[in-house]
Parts: sequence; C-alpha cells; structure tokens
Amino acid sequence: MADARIVNVLGVVGTGAMGAGIAQIAAQAGIAVRLLDARPGAAASAAQKLGEVWAGLAAKGRMNPEAVEAAKARLHPIASDAELAGCDVVIEAIVEDLGAKKALFAALEPIVGTDCVLATNTSSLSVTAIAASCTAPGRVGGFHFFNPVPLMKVVEVIDGALTEPAVGATLTALATRMGHRPVRCIDSPGFIVNHAGRGFGTEALRIVAGESAARPVDVDRALRDQVGFRMGPFELLDLTALDVSQPVMESIYRQYHEEPRYRPSWLLRQRLDAGLLGRKVGRGFYAYRDGKAEPLPEQSVPVAAPRPVWVWGDDPDWEAALASMVRDAGWPVETASRPSDAALCLLAPLGDDVTAAAQRARIDPARCVAVDALFGLAKRRVLMTNPATHAEFAAAGHALLAAGGVPVTRIKDSPGFVAQRTVATIVNIACDIAQQGVATPADIDAAVTLGLGYPKGPLALGDALGPARIVTILARLSALTGDPRYRASPWLRRRAALGLSLLHVEA
Ligand SMILES: NC(=O)c1ccc[n+]([C@@H]2O[C@H](COP(=O)([O-])OP(=O)(O)OC[C@H]3O[C@@H](n4cnc5c(N)ncnc54)[C@H](O)[C@@H]3O)[C@@H](O)[C@H]2O)c1
Repeated sequence: MADARIVNVLGVVGTGAMGAGIAQIAAQAGIAVRLLDARPGAAASAAQKLGEVWAGLAAKGRMNPEAVEAAKARLHPIASDAELAGCDVVIEAIVEDLGAKKALFAALEPIVGTDCVLATNTSSLSVTAIAASCTAPGRVGGFHFFNPVPLMKVVEVIDGALTEPAVGATLTALATRMGHRPVRCIDSPGFIVNHAGRGFGTEALRIVAGESAARPVDVDRALRDQVGFRMGPFELLDLTALDVSQPVMESIYRQYHEEPRYRPSWLLRQRLDAGLLGRKVGRGFYAYRDGKAEPLPEQSVPVAAPRPVWVWGDDPDWEAALASMVRDAGWPVETASRPSDAALCLLAPLGDDVTAAAQRARIDPARCVAVDALFGLAKRRVLMTNPATHAEFAAAGHALLAAGGVPVTRIKDSPGFVAQRTVATIVNIACDIAQQGVATPADIDAAVTLGLGYPKGPLALGDALGPARIVTILARLSALTGDPRYRASPWLRRRAALGLSLLHVEA
C-alpha cells in the first residue's frame, strides 16, 4: 500500500448508531456499502431506517428523490463475513470491547484482499492493541467519528504504532469525500478530541468540589457568557450522563499514568453511585422537567449606597474599563495612587485570587473585591471576594457591578476566577497535545471546534487572550495551589517567550 486507494466498496460492521451514520454519509457520497451486524436482521433494519431518513430529507426538500433512490441502492445488508471480500475499506463500529474488535479483525483478514484497509471507530481503545491481532497490523487504522455522524463533521484518522502511511492517506481522502474534516493524529489515549476536552470538566469540578468557590450554575454561566461556550461543563456532564462521562474521565487519567492534569473528582463517583446521572434520569447537577432544566434564579443583588471606588488592575486597559464602568454607574472614582479610607477597592487581577492581588497592590483585603476583566465586562460580571472582605464592601461591589443591568455572579476567592483558570487549563492541555506530537496545531483546533463545539480552537483561544497571559495565569495558579496540574506546558512557555502564535508552524 503506497498511496491513498480509491474506495468503491466500503464494509461497515456493526450497524448501531455509529455504523448506520457512517453508512449514511458513505452512501450519500456515492460509495457502495455492505452492512453487517452480529444480530440477525439488524443490518437490514439499519438499511430500512436509512431509507426513511433519506425520505424525510427529500420531504423537506433537502435531497432530491433520484438521489434518495440512488443512495438506497448503494446499501447492501449482508449476512456473513465472507461477503466482505472485495471491500476496499472495512470500518468496524461494533461493541467497545478490545477482545471483540481484535477477534473481528483477525477473522476478516483472510477474507478481504491484502490491500483492504481495516478501520476501527473505537473511541477509547488503543488502535495499536486492536491491530495486534492481525498478521498485517500495518493495514489497521483508527477512524473515529462522532455522534450523530451526519451532523458532526469531523473524524479522527488515527495512526497506530505500525499503521502504514497509505492507510491514513486512504482514510483521510475517504473522510473528505464523505464531507467530513479529517484530523490526523497518532494513537494515544483520548486521541485529540477526548484528550483536549479534559480541561473543561476537570477544572470546573476543581472549582466546585475541590475549592467550593462557586456552584455548578455559577461556573456554567461564567463560561457561557464570558467565553462563549454553548454549554457549561455541568450542563454538558448532565447531557452526556455520568455513567458515560465518569468512566471516560477515569480511563484517560489512568491511561496517562495518573497525570494530574486529567485528575477527575471524587464528586462524580459519588453522584454516579447516587444515580444522579443527568438529563436522561431527570436529575443531575440540574433538575429536569419534560427534558428541560428547571431555571435557577440569578443571585439577588444587595442594595448599597454609592461610595468612592479605587480601581487597580493587571492591565491598564482593565483599569480604564473599570473606571468607566464605575462612572457609568454614577459612583465616584478615586484617582490617587492609594485608596482613601472609605473607598471600595475594585481589583482586576490576572490569575490571582483577591487575597494575592490585595497583597500585590498592598491594600487592606477587607475592602477588596475583584472582577474578571479578561473577557470584557459586557455580558456577565464575575465578582470575587476574599475571606476577609467585609460584608458591607462585598455588598457594595455586587451592587456596583449590577448597576448597568449586567448579570453578576459572585464567587469565593479563586485564583483565576472561573473563566481565566478554565480557559488557561484548556489551552495548556492543547499545547501539551501539540508538544507530544499527537496532531498538528491546525488539526487540534479543527478537531476541538468541530468535535466539541467550542467557540474557538484552544490554540486560537490562547492566541486571542495572549500566550504570555496564559503562562501568567498558570504560574499564579501553581503558586497558590502547589498543584502540578497547573505547570505550564513547555510548548506554551516557549511560544510565549518567543512571542509566537500558538498556531505557528515550525520551519
Ligand atoms: N455512540 C457514540 O457516541 C460513539 C461515538 C464514537 C465512537 N463510538 C464507538 O463506536 C462503536 C459502536 O458504538 P455504537 O454507539 O454505534 O454502538 P451500538 O450499540 O449502537 O451498536 C453496536 C452494533 O454492533 C453490533 N455488534 C456487536 N458486536 C458485534 C460483532 N462482534 N460483530 C458484528 N456486529 C456486532 C451490535 O449488534 C450493534 O448493532 C463503539 O466502538 C463505540 O465506542 C461510539
């Protein structure tokens, strides 16, 4: 196998959710598909259901009737392995079990031609381990689609330790022909998407369960409104269901030999035991009625009389933004280098908690509150107090931030608030993935935007905020917590030091 081979006949083994989706996009792309399932009648039933899907698309005017008939004619349910002879590629989407996948490929090898590619849609097993059952392991590659396949337009093309280059080339060309964006990566736990997605949930759990600095709803609101995530991490955990996501978190942590970056939380195990699985059972981090989360009110805004405000920030632009926000609220701004005794001190630190920021600014922590200015102040304002903040000043800070009608979320002292530390964690993990040579920077970002629906790829997000700032956030998180999960990736440090984009391609 030297170059990408043209795929005229595709075999799909396992015609459940994933196999049927793969068969759908392949048939739509003009490829003949042979469908095989261990359960009698399952392949024929999948083909029939796909016919109904296409009829539905035709009824909505999204597919013409001739194309429907042509696609239906390309589906061939078969009843035995032997009928896969003559396939150019066989994709398995059977049960997620190493023994079953190994046995399948070992059985298929003598049936298919010597240059037939055997592709696995595994989401968590090692492609290399699956290939090990074959006499020619070089013909095996990973081809990891996402659910639902027709809508999730990205597929990971995974090179096992022995995969021949032509296998990746064939799968890459096949993905493009089926209308999907291929992202190429080496066989490693979580591949790209499930690896890059580790930061979002684990950091949110760290804030909620590890530090009790905020409630799940506060974290979700901050990440949605400040950063633009479609869904917060706890909403996502509820949607995915804990019986699916908790084992994945544990598995990736173990596979990376307990790397602290991926450390899950005891809270998930406990909630799993309690049956608080999420949306599908009506109870998770949120309560659900008729499939919809019951709304939780915003925190109530205390009443406080205007008082002088002294502002301090890690960026002069943030100080200017805070001063103008204070003036817009009709409160007086103090412009002296030190606050008066009556002043509320409003800080905008990067990566620090209020305690550390007050120490750096050399002011009385009892009068200090902080606001996260890194993502702007327009959509939501995250207010942070420290253990010494006097109730009167906390109330004043809350009332001030809410004065313009922007929602305010108050949290306890947390280095990097919610959004700064979560985004820094996500960027740092993506940099580690690049450092490990798992995938190119461009493929990491494409995989994450298409596979996880993030507003930007993690490396583009790091660029937008500034790699040097991400390093600072991580350094301050490390200093306060002593937790090695926050050590900055050398890949990130180097680019920050050189002033390079995180998407820069090395010569
Ligand atoms: N569902 C997802 O979100 C998702 C996403 C990405 C990857 N995957 C992976 O795709 C694969 C399939 O997942 P799914 O959700 O479609 O599962 P599924 O349970 O919906 O379908 C699996 C199908 O495989 C058949 N099957 C089981 N063992 C078989 C065998 N030995 N030979 C032939 N057929 C066999 C079953 O009868 C069933 O029809 C798994 O490896 C899974 O990890 C799933």
